[in-house]
Amino acid sequence: MKVQVCIIGGGPSGLLLSQLLHLKGVDTIVLEKHSREYVLGRIRAGVLEHGFAALMREARSGERMDREGEIHEGFFISRDGVLSRVDLHKYSGGNSVIVYGQTEVTRDLYDARDRLKGAVEHNVEDVQIHDVKSDAPFVTYRRGDEIVRVDCDYVVGADGFHGVSRKSIPKEVLREYERIYPFGWLGVLSRTKPVSPELIYCKHERGFALCSMRSQVLSRYYIQVPLDDRVEDWSDESFWAELKRRLPEKVAGDLVTGPSIEKSIAPLRSFVAEPMRYGRLFLAGDAAHIVPPTGARGLNSAASDVYYLYHALIDHYQKSDDAGLDAYSQKGLARVWKAQRFSWWMTTLLHKFPENTPYENKLRETELDYLFSSEKALGSLAENYVGLPF
Ligand code: FAD
Ligand code: PHB
Repeated sequence: MKVQVCIIGGGPSGLLLSQLLHLKGVDTIVLEKHSREYVLGRIRAGVLEHGFAALMREARSGERMDREGEIHEGFFISRDGVLSRVDLHKYSGGNSVIVYGQTEVTRDLYDARDRLKGAVEHNVEDVQIHDVKSDAPFVTYRRGDEIVRVDCDYVVGADGFHGVSRKSIPKEVLREYERIYPFGWLGVLSRTKPVSPELIYCKHERGFALCSMRSQVLSRYYIQVPLDDRVEDWSDESFWAELKRRLPEKVAGDLVTGPSIEKSIAPLRSFVAEPMRYGRLFLAGDAAHIVPPTGARGLNSAASDVYYLYHALIDHYQKSDDAGLDAYSQKGLARVWKAQRFSWWMTTLLHKFPENTPYENKLRETELDYLFSSEKALGSLAENYVGLPF
């Protein structure tokens, strides 16, 4: 089989890129390790920036997002029980975010690929990348006993943090930067009315908590837990009780609880791999960088990679101009590092770190006091949260 661009990974990055390229007449295949049901079963991001939404529309996949997604012009931060609102609209110069789940984004992209009869291969095993330093790279995968070969011009590694693409770049070429946080987020999805019309990020002496949502009848809540906690150790009752302890009293009183329909623990990690290009292999999204979810930047950072790569590939195919491809890694990383900085800052500000001294705790409290006393500081938070320009 021969395609122009072979995309490894059928998560949001891979699907969005293949859909955008297809609409411009560039031939792609997406190779996904898992079944579609499995990919759609993962509950992840909930907050989209408008740059991402614009790409979804360009990919003719934004209709349901525009109909069902909720525009949020602000969110709350609770400081040990006291609520303060961050007015995103005011401090970002009129911008906002869209609350629409990653599961729905992915479903819309799969539907769009189906409508165009785009090639998406599921349950592929043992994907291997070959000869990316040559002009004729190829990818192989196994389906049952059969080995399939895909010849292509370019390979895009959009296979997430645990994928094969990044690992296929030689160690002496790749530089990795990493920070692993000593806690995770225990998340619960429940068919209940959200406790607040806007998200609430809670800093509390017992640990961080977040009240989020997917719709007016579907809530998503998180609490910070030690890294060695296991989901099985948390009954629904113990989760709700711990969440309530970390919320302001009034909010805890209003919280509607119910059975969890999904419960999982996500470890928190900051990670960047440089460069994002090796020969004819380009990394995009979580394959190249990870942020802790506190700043809601992960999927949005993946979108900026897709944006740069899409335009670079179109310039290559339509104008024989490779400047975008040559600049991809440098351009992508410049924005990626800003998302890293912001996510690290939000995480440090709002979580309880076991190793923190009383001095460092005072500094965090002072940082929050400063934030809410300075329009410039709120402006910086707002412009990063709604997303820096591509
Ligand atoms: P992935 O979604 O990981 O997709 C990669 C795909 O590649 C997967 O389908 C995988 O099965 C496949 N794959 C892996 N290995 C192989 C292989 N060898 N061969 C073929 N296929 C393979 N981001 C935000 O912007 N806003 C938020 O509010 C937000 N909240 C989050 C909350 C949580 C709890 C978590 C965990 C993450 C959150 N994120 C958020 C981050 C966001 O979910 C990720 O950044 C996003 O999923 C990245 O998309 P991706 O397509 O690059 O990677
Ligand atoms: C979510 O709804 O899953 C969510 C929202 C905001 C975040 C992280 C996760 O910062």
